Amino acid sequence: MSYAAIPEDALCVADYERLAKGVLPHAIFEYVYGGGGDEVTLNHNRDALNDIKILPRMLNDVSKGSSHTTVLGQTWRTPIMLAPVAFQKMAHEQGEIATAKAASALEVGMMVSTLSSVEMESISQELSSEKWFQLYWQLDRNFTLSLIRRAEKAGFQALVLTVDSAIHGIRNRAQRAKFALPEGIEAVNLKDRPELPRQAFTPEQSIVFQGMMSEAPNWSDVAWLIEQTEIPVIIKGVLHPADALKAKEMGAQGVIVSNHGGRTLDCVPSAIEVVAAVREAVGAEFTVLLDGAIERGTDVFKAIALGADAVLIGRPQFYALAVAGASGVAHMLRILREEFEVTMALAGIAQVKDITGTSLY
Ligand SMILES: Cc1cc2nc3c(=O)[nH]c(=O)nc-3n(C[C@H](O)[C@H](O)[C@H](O)COP(=O)(O)O)c2cc1C
Repeated sequence: MSYAAIPEDALCVADYERLAKGVLPHAIFEYVYGGGGDEVTLNHNRDALNDIKILPRMLNDVSKGSSHTTVLGQTWRTPIMLAPVAFQKMAHEQGEIATAKAASALEVGMMVSTLSSVEMESISQELSSEKWFQLYWQLDRNFTLSLIRRAEKAGFQALVLTVDSAIHGIRNRAQRAKFALPEGIEAVNLKDRPELPRQAFTPEQSIVFQGMMSEAPNWSDVAWLIEQTEIPVIIKGVLHPADALKAKEMGAQGVIVSNHGGRTLDCVPSAIEVVAAVREAVGAEFTVLLDGAIERGTDVFKAIALGADAVLIGRPQFYALAVAGASGVAHMLRILREEFEVTMALAGIAQVKDITGTSLY
């Protein structure tokens, strides 16, 4: 069940998490909310943001201020984009179509997951804002190539290769809740994926190294991918500055500093803690985005002050979708944009490009 309209007590982004818990089936909520392992990183993502303080300047004239910004040469209404979040029909019967409507209305870009529950072409048709396709590497290169060609044909403006989740994290919370994809919800973009013969393991071999990781992409696949397409390739899921630099040197157009919402390897640092070092490694001009527990305008401000060009919103889009469909997602994005503008104004900053480390304490 979802609310017909936006509930009166949905006042901030985190309210949508509380409200979604009340409307989503328990197992689905636990799957979306949860992290890997003991959720050390999941919890730390929020704490690390709270630990950073903003040092405001008073009496600056910000009456000509704006939260517009430029990313990959495009003007964005605000430095916020929707992160790829799979299987959104679990939140709402229209799934990603409703999210795309909201993103378009608020002029916020959307990254469409390989694992979307609606075909990428239909989502693209709904999107008048920035649209990027998130690619999960496929074992069969020809099939990977067919996904790239579909994304290009559908008008996606960038490819986002996610590299931090070749293996799912150890997701005990989802396991305890006995999460399984509900019937009728599937990875529709992968319907034509060829079945490749699985190799048998000898007792000396590892199901991790010789099994799952033998299907994972590596740097030579990144080089191949960049050769295949004219649209920018962005690498999602780097934390180490050296990986960000390597992505740049190989010809990627940007990186997304992310720990996948604490859902893959536990006990890694939060993106907000490493983004300054990443920025230093790749230089001022390279595109650096960040995600992980962004739910306040102050969080957006902190991320930009530390070197990000923009941030991504993951779970809150799913929660808002579950609670109030497209209106919920639009409302959640509007809250975030307004909070970000309030933060800029009260910190005495009129333009996104002027948000720097000197605004932090
Ligand atoms: C339910 C769920 C599904 C996700 N699906 C994808 C996906 O298909 N591709 C991807 O690159 N990241 C995926 N992510 C990770 C998000 O893109 C993002 O990195 C992460 O949620 C961090 O943002 P948050 O803290 O705002 O949730 C998913 C995250 C969640 C919670």
